[in-house]
Amino acid sequence: MAIVSPSILSSNFAYLQKDIEMLNESEADWFHIDVMDGVFVPNISFGFPILHSIRNIVKKPLDVHLMIVNPERYVERFRDAGASIITVHYEACADLKRTIDLIHSCGVKAGVSINPETPTAVLREILPCVDLVLIMSVHPGFGGQKFIEDSLQKICEVKRMISEENLSCLIEVDGGIGLGNVEKVVRAGADAVVAGAAVFSAESPESIIRDMKKL
Ligand code: DX5
Ligand code: ZN
Repeated sequence: MAIVSPSILSSNFAYLQKDIEMLNESEADWFHIDVMDGVFVPNISFGFPILHSIRNIVKKPLDVHLMIVNPERYVERFRDAGASIITVHYEACADLKRTIDLIHSCGVKAGVSINPETPTAVLREILPCVDLVLIMSVHPGFGGQKFIEDSLQKICEVKRMISEENLSCLIEVDGGIGLGNVEKVVRAGADAVVAGAAVFSAESPESIIRDMKKL
């Protein structure tokens, strides 16, 4: 059964507490937290004040996806804000290995993400050092975009690399995932899926989450 990590980017922030309580009661496994800086991606989302306000009411691990340049500057602050997993972008790090080591030294699980145009081969060296690979299946920056089909091939490639090297890191896939395609994403090798629009635009988000886990 896949791990489902709903992205609160698609929630209505005026009622954030209500949505968090819904996710707490749902079968969601993690909370996906999309942090955007307006530099790495053409959008700005939210940062520390929101995380500090929600961390005490969230009952599940915070899966923090940093779409920011030079994320090493903020790793400790995201740990202090309650992150269980911190994922940084391959494209955004001056020294990726150092950033991953820094995340681990803070006692947090470390993930690396690649954009749709970045080939999976760049991951080979870092793979033994990370807990999670986040494959972007849309261009990062906005929720509600269409799933890029080529991502399926990339999931298979990363899956193969992980098994060839006998590694244990998880594959998470992010962007454009819903009931219509979750099955093929999981079949391709995803251990975890992110879902924003599919969950929050549904009449019954809890049942979408339940069905996504079942498929
Ligand atoms: C995109 C974000 C995603 C996004 C997912 O930049 O990283 O996590 O919020 O939302 P949907 O599922 O709507 O594509
Ligand atoms: Zn994300």
